[in-house]
Amino acid sequence: MESIVTASNAAPEVVEEHAVDVEAPRAVDEVVVLDYGGQYSQLIARRVRECGVFSELLPHHVGAEEVRKRNPKGLILSGGPASVYADGAPRLDPELLELGIPVLGICYGMQLVTLELGGRVEGAEIGEFGRSELTVREPGRLLEGLPAEQTCWMSHRDTVYAPPPGFTALASSTQSPVAALEDVERGIYGIQFHPEVVHTPYGQDILKRFLGDVCGADLDWSAASIIDEQIERIRAQVGDGRVICGLSGGVDSSVAALLVHRAIGDQLTCVFVDHGLMRKNEGEQVVATFRDHFHVPLVAVDAEERFLAKLAGVTEPEAKRKAIGAEFIRVFEEEAAKLAGDGEGAKYLVQGTLYSDVIESGGGTGAATIKSHHNVGGLPDDLQFELVEPLRTLFKDEVRAVGAELGLPERLVWRQPFPGPGLAIRVVGGEATKERLDLLRDADYVLQDEIRNAGLYRDLWQSFCVLPDIRTVGVQGDERTYGSVVVIRAVTSDDAMTADWARLPYDLLEQIASRMINELREVNRVVLDITSKPPGTIEWE
Ligand code: XMP
Repeated sequence: MESIVTASNAAPEVVEEHAVDVEAPRAVDEVVVLDYGGQYSQLIARRVRECGVFSELLPHHVGAEEVRKRNPKGLILSGGPASVYADGAPRLDPELLELGIPVLGICYGMQLVTLELGGRVEGAEIGEFGRSELTVREPGRLLEGLPAEQTCWMSHRDTVYAPPPGFTALASSTQSPVAALEDVERGIYGIQFHPEVVHTPYGQDILKRFLGDVCGADLDWSAASIIDEQIERIRAQVGDGRVICGLSGGVDSSVAALLVHRAIGDQLTCVFVDHGLMRKNEGEQVVATFRDHFHVPLVAVDAEERFLAKLAGVTEPEAKRKAIGAEFIRVFEEEAAKLAGDGEGAKYLVQGTLYSDVIESGGGTGAATIKSHHNVGGLPDDLQFELVEPLRTLFKDEVRAVGAELGLPERLVWRQPFPGPGLAIRVVGGEATKERLDLLRDADYVLQDEIRNAGLYRDLWQSFCVLPDIRTVGVQGDERTYGSVVVIRAVTSDDAMTADWARLPYDLLEQIASRMINELREVNRVVLDITSKPPGTIEWE
């Protein structure tokens, strides 16, 4: 469904072979997580970072050489959905155990190691899913200092019945005779449970033991600590070249722009295309923050009329997206050309690509395709930029931390995601006219105001209004009204893949509805969307 300029990537398509590799050697300690397809693999990488060690998630098939290049302090093998005995199940490359660094297998990862080294793994009659009780029989090195009895989270059917020769079985659980094992001599460790999920209360402690005590990594990495490193990288990449950045006001493009500005100052020009589909006051806030406060060279283009003209008569959702995407690129191109004047134009384009985009598009091996945009149109062949992607190694919450460190106002740091096509895809079932957009903008303003006042803004993944193309009958004073319906949509989510409708307090809902009806003459009914995703999507179009 994401098919157009995103909040984070409000900039045109780029040529992917120019993308900068993430994996140049780093000054900080790193631990590599190999992804065997488990649903929590990303979470492992994030937890390792939370422990203070930089980590990258690579697909399991990258090979030992790719891991060695990073000179990591340790290696973690993730869980995975397959049975180790299934046809086509990912195997363990034995070379990975010969890198001279400690290895921790988690769930499937532990089973792979066990199988490879001659232990016994078998499919169990009864699987072990969810909470389980772990009994530590021999703490060994990995579980030293941790309680003998603890709760852990399991998700497996194949079970380790005997550790490989030379290994010590450290713990068992309700259904797993061997739930943790180690061979200190060889530096190989395994746990059947998931330390990365919150339901394993000592999970972080176990990861820290592995990272600090076993791997000897320094636990001092933080997202903010990448600022200096990134500044150096940006300078090295662009030299004295000119750089352009499509600023949307979203947290990703904002933080990316600020970082680049820190690095190269006025060699950067930001272009903010106000398509007239933003929320109330949002355009002014972007200009005030970047131009007036941070003194970032900023071209703000008021393109409302152009976009409205393109949207005239368009009602079908994808057609709206296409029209907006194509026009966005046209405006951006024009501004880039204007900036270039008769001289040399910008060679570099800043993009707020995040680590999750990198992972999704092939695991950050550098060789993989990079999903750097959601544009439908794409740029003409003759307009090519080299990418500057200073957030390529960061997860969303880390980007916020960097933004806060750079002094980005809280309002921008914590902004909820906002779709590239903006309010146009929230005027549903009809044409996004100026009049309908203004009404929606006003209704949305009331909603945001109330949600912020209730202290709920950050708890919600997104909260917004939808304006369907219907009218309903009402009565106000002694008069019959025939007015517009506003839909309240508020969801909680971790990643927008799934979402639940937010249980907003009744009193708050009442306050929102009455304000909308009292303050907005055209509105005579307010309804609440109580659909989760799936089966619904977050947006209505
Ligand atoms: P859905 O509606 O598919 O939305 O559940 C998932 C997330 O994507 C956002 N979204 C978009 N973002 N361009 C964007 O930049 C789009 O065309 C678009 N459509 C949906 C949506 O707001 C939610 O966060």
